[in-house]
Amino acid sequence: LPTYTQAIRGSFFDFTAVAENPGQLTELARYIEDGLLLLNGGKIVSLQNWEEGQSQLSYPQAVIDYRGKLIVPGFVDTHIHYPQTEMIGAFGEQLLEWLQHYTFPVESQYHCPTHAANMSAFFLQQLLSNGTTTALVFGTVHPQSVDALFEAAHRLNMRLIAGKVMMDCNAPDYLTETPEQSYQQTRELIDRWHNRGRLSYALTPRFAPTSSPALLGKVRQLKAEFPDTWLHTHLSENPQEIEWVKSLFPDRSGYLDVYDHYQLTGRRSVFAHCVHLEDSEWDCLHDTDSAVAFCPTSNLFLGSGLFNLKRCWDRQVKMGIGTDVGAGTTFNMLKTLAEGYKVGQLQRYSLSACEAFYHATLGGAKALDLDSHIGNFLPGKEADFVVIDPAVSELQKMRQANSRDIGEKMFVLMTLGDDRNIASTWVNGQCVWQQNSVEKGEIA
Ligand code: GUN
Ligand code: ZN
Repeated sequence: LPTYTQAIRGSFFDFTAVAENPGQLTELARYIEDGLLLLNGGKIVSLQNWEEGQSQLSYPQAVIDYRGKLIVPGFVDTHIHYPQTEMIGAFGEQLLEWLQHYTFPVESQYHCPTHAANMSAFFLQQLLSNGTTTALVFGTVHPQSVDALFEAAHRLNMRLIAGKVMMDCNAPDYLTETPEQSYQQTRELIDRWHNRGRLSYALTPRFAPTSSPALLGKVRQLKAEFPDTWLHTHLSENPQEIEWVKSLFPDRSGYLDVYDHYQLTGRRSVFAHCVHLEDSEWDCLHDTDSAVAFCPTSNLFLGSGLFNLKRCWDRQVKMGIGTDVGAGTTFNMLKTLAEGYKVGQLQRYSLSACEAFYHATLGGAKALDLDSHIGNFLPGKEADFVVIDPAVSELQKMRQANSRDIGEKMFVLMTLGDDRNIASTWVNGQCVWQQNSVEKGEIA
């Protein structure tokens, strides 16, 4: 009999393998209405039907009973900026002006380790209270910002990938560095944090416009010296941005070619947005096995454009969902999926709940090259999951009651759901967040 330390009963939904096309998703999906999940040492031992599993229970009275709840693998946020938490929802601008007016001033504050520590704690609580257990995160140019975030994530045992922004031009002096400084500070952070516990390091050049050829050369050197690190940047988000890149790098054939030229594409490279790619760029992403982060709330909020989900499948490019806070307007994956559906609607692509939850879990894990560790409930996977209450408001209760099957119920959940639906969040086999356990403040 398998040994276990925790047993959890509830309804479970996950995907048992990575999909090559959306047609495979319903077959790969697994829904166990009355299931039993066994854990040991932060890992999954098994997921079975309650009927089959209960005979293996050594302490049946100790089962954690989540009947009536839906338990899914922890959400994976493939693109987010932790320092932008405090300027989410800034009015009136598109990308380049938004960066100048709102983003850069806020990021300047992260030279202060105390501020960085306070905001790191706040940021991770926002992730967990929204059911997100893994994220690929931008810091600021200050190494202190990343030290603070990794320290906080390490205490929680989260699987997190992050990096210090690298930038040396076209940004205020207070946020730029020399290529040599950027190289040295990044190296020190890699030595300190990469592969420590569940933490990993991402080389994080902000985007091509804030990177000189010399800086990109340093990023290439770091990627060659530390080939198992990640590469995280922005690509083809906004038309003016793309024109600017073409004028800054006239020798390159396009935006992605800037990164590709410096050997920054690859299996652990994640490019946020990719809203306006050329055919040859889709080919390059596929051929290099690079991944993209689809950030629906951000693309709508900044008016950047509509990500092409269908083309992403057709071109066989790995994709995950990003909230892109603070251009994105929510930490919540359910709300982000709902906006993703609307982005699809505007292009006659119907994003089913099945597909949406795939992107938010195993698909995102695959995009981050973490699918051997997280993303579903297969034995040996790390026990990161979220317990969802499918109906927390009168409207949700009414609408769930008249939904016929799990597909419809999950679609209603993603369309009407938000952080109130996150009952609890588990990381590495520990419950790290619970609805209603937080003081509700002064209002009695
Ligand atoms: N491109 C370069 N920097 C940023 C950023 O901070 N947010 C977004 N959305 N796009 C960027
Ligand atoms: Zn971003």
